[in-house]
Amino acid sequence: MDKHNLQENVEYETSEQITIYPTFESMSLREELLRGIYAFGFNKPSAVQQRAIVPVIQGRDVIVQSQSGTGKTAVFSLSALSMIDLSIREPQVLILSNTRELAEQSAKVAMALGDFLNVSIHACIGGHSIQDDISKLQHGVQIVSGTPGRVFDMIQRKELRVRHLKMLILDEADEMLTKGFKQQVYDIYRYLPPTTQNVVVSATLPQEILDMTDKFMNNPLKILVKRDELTLEGIKQFFIQVDKEEWKFDTLCDLYDTLTITQAVIFCSTINKCEWLANKMREHEFTVVQMNGKMSQKERDKIMAEFRQGNKRVLIATDVWGRGLDVQQVSLVINYDLPNSRELYIHRIGRSGRFGRKGVAINFVKQEDVRLLRDIEQYYSTQIDEMPMNVTDLL
Ligand SMILES: Nc1ncnc2c1ncn2[C@@H]1O[C@H](COP(=O)(O)OP(=O)(O)OP(=O)(O)O)[C@@H](O)[C@H]1O
Ligand SMILES: [Mg+2]
Repeated sequence: MDKHNLQENVEYETSEQITIYPTFESMSLREELLRGIYAFGFNKPSAVQQRAIVPVIQGRDVIVQSQSGTGKTAVFSLSALSMIDLSIREPQVLILSNTRELAEQSAKVAMALGDFLNVSIHACIGGHSIQDDISKLQHGVQIVSGTPGRVFDMIQRKELRVRHLKMLILDEADEMLTKGFKQQVYDIYRYLPPTTQNVVVSATLPQEILDMTDKFMNNPLKILVKRDELTLEGIKQFFIQVDKEEWKFDTLCDLYDTLTITQAVIFCSTINKCEWLANKMREHEFTVVQMNGKMSQKERDKIMAEFRQGNKRVLIATDVWGRGLDVQQVSLVINYDLPNSRELYIHRIGRSGRFGRKGVAINFVKQEDVRLLRDIEQYYSTQIDEMPMNVTDLL
């Protein structure tokens, strides 16, 4: 693992002096947990893991920000796994995420890391059987990773017992604390024991979100990244100017061979656009899959499985795919339509370039989008150039 992967030269802004733990051994983790870490293939903690894991285990409220793909999932999973009282077969840690796929992914990571601990972890998400949730919870689950709707439902039914909960983790916290989710998260929060430790995690934490954390966090330790350090050096960003909307399609077809070199995600702004584009690509004999929030969970699960296995290489998606999802083979992201926020831009392009891998992001811009893209470029002090001819060399 080189310096780049572990981000050893990245600077953090912390609210107070913190200790950096250069190895997993130095964190005094459970022996079985260390075994799980190495069996999962991690040798050395990333920069954020070196800084954030121990304070969370010590019981502090912590706000954790680090660039996309730098290992925040393991920060909270390892902390959660360290905190569990294995003799109590009751929910002790609750992880909330903005999509079902992300909640499921985090549950899987925690399960893998906790493989030698005999800990019980369950993904509590909408779209899957309620009866199955109930029976799992009755069996005794210790870590619950879920989406707010289903989790709240289970709490109200008293199937998810909150009495032993000691940690709440909000992954993609800026999204979770924004309208759409904020009220649901608050509804859940009100049920939790007042002593519950709060951990807030995201690659993007705008000031208004940080201000909001004052309301429910207790003197949190802040581990933050300056916004001019937020884009990853490993992800090269480009734009292609298109005069008309119709030209985007031809441009995409021209890029198809590049898309399939490894794997690619193409983002569209709406569900309709996503479906339309997938159909049109197929009409032109290109192989693509498509995922959006209107599909049945069964279909979503199938697409996720195909894409994770690499059987399908090109995915067209809405922002349901914008945050957190980790498929290491993705090296190219296309913004067929620009995202509607600066934060989402970071998350979308961060689907590529996971853990120090190379990535390329290509933005399709119409005349009226140029300003938006320039604004993003300035805001993050990054560079978005016109796409060069040799883009495939960068993948
Ligand atoms: N210490 C480590 N050693 C090797 N690989 C690691 C390590 N920590 C994390 N990874 C890998 O890095 C990838 C990205 O991790 P993760 O999904 O946790 O990133 P993230 O910071 O949550 O990103 P995002 O902001 O996009 O959600 C995963 O494939 C994970 O297995
Ligand atoms: Mg993440």
